[in-house]
Amino acid sequence: MALQLGDITPNFQADSTEGKIDFHSWLGNGWGVLFSHPKDFTPVCTTELGEVARLKPEFDKRGVKVAGLSVDGLKEHAAWAGDIKETQGHALNFPLIADTDRKVSDLYGMIHPNANDTLTVRSVFVVGPDKKIKLTITYPASTGRNFEEILRVIDSLQLTAKHSVATPVNWKHGQDVIIVPSLSDDAAKEKFPGGWKTLKPYLRVVKQPG
Ligand code: BEZ
Repeated sequence: MALQLGDITPNFQADSTEGKIDFHSWLGNGWGVLFSHPKDFTPVCTTELGEVARLKPEFDKRGVKVAGLSVDGLKEHAAWAGDIKETQGHALNFPLIADTDRKVSDLYGMIHPNANDTLTVRSVFVVGPDKKIKLTITYPASTGRNFEEILRVIDSLQLTAKHSVATPVNWKHGQDVIIVPSLSDDAAKEKFPGGWKTLKPYLRVVKQPG
C-alpha cells in the first residue's frame, strides 16, 4: 500500500553525493524533505535541482533538511552537478541519493509503472520531527514542481504543530489563520486573549500566533 500521511517514514541506507545516508539518523530530531526526480541530464529536473539549491537557506531557516533522489548513479550525479551550477547559477548544496538498485524508490512508491516503469516520478515527502509523513505530493515528469509551495506547506505544518490553528486557502506566513473547530470558545479565550472574528461558529479567524 502507498505511504500515507501519519505513517512512520521508512528508514533506508543509501549512497548520496554527500556520502552514505541512514535516513532516520540523517533526519535526527528535525524536519526533512525527500524528493525524487525522473532522471539526471534532463531539462525540467535541472531547473528543479537548481531551484532547491537556491531555496536551501529557506529550508535551513525552518530547520528542514532536504535530499533529492533518482535512479542514476553517483558518477552521473557528479557530472550533472556541473550543468546545474552552470545553467541555474546555483550549485548542489544538499545530498542527491543514487538509488541505482531502486531500493528506496520501491520502498517509497516513487516508480509508477503505468506512467514509466523505470524512472521515478516527481514525489515529495515532508517528514516531521516525530518521523511521521506530513505531506506527500506526486507530479508527472513533464511538470516541474513549485518548491515555494512546499515551503508554504512547511510553514503551515510548523505553525499548526504548535498552536490550535489551521491555515486557510492560499495562506502565507504572517496572514490570519483559523481556530480549529475542536477548541471551544472558552478554551480559545485562554489561547487567543487578543480575540478573534467569528464568521460562523465553526469559522473563527485570528491573527497568526507566535
Ligand atoms: C525532465 O526533467 O525534463 C524530464 C524528465 C523525464 C521525462 C520528461 C522530462
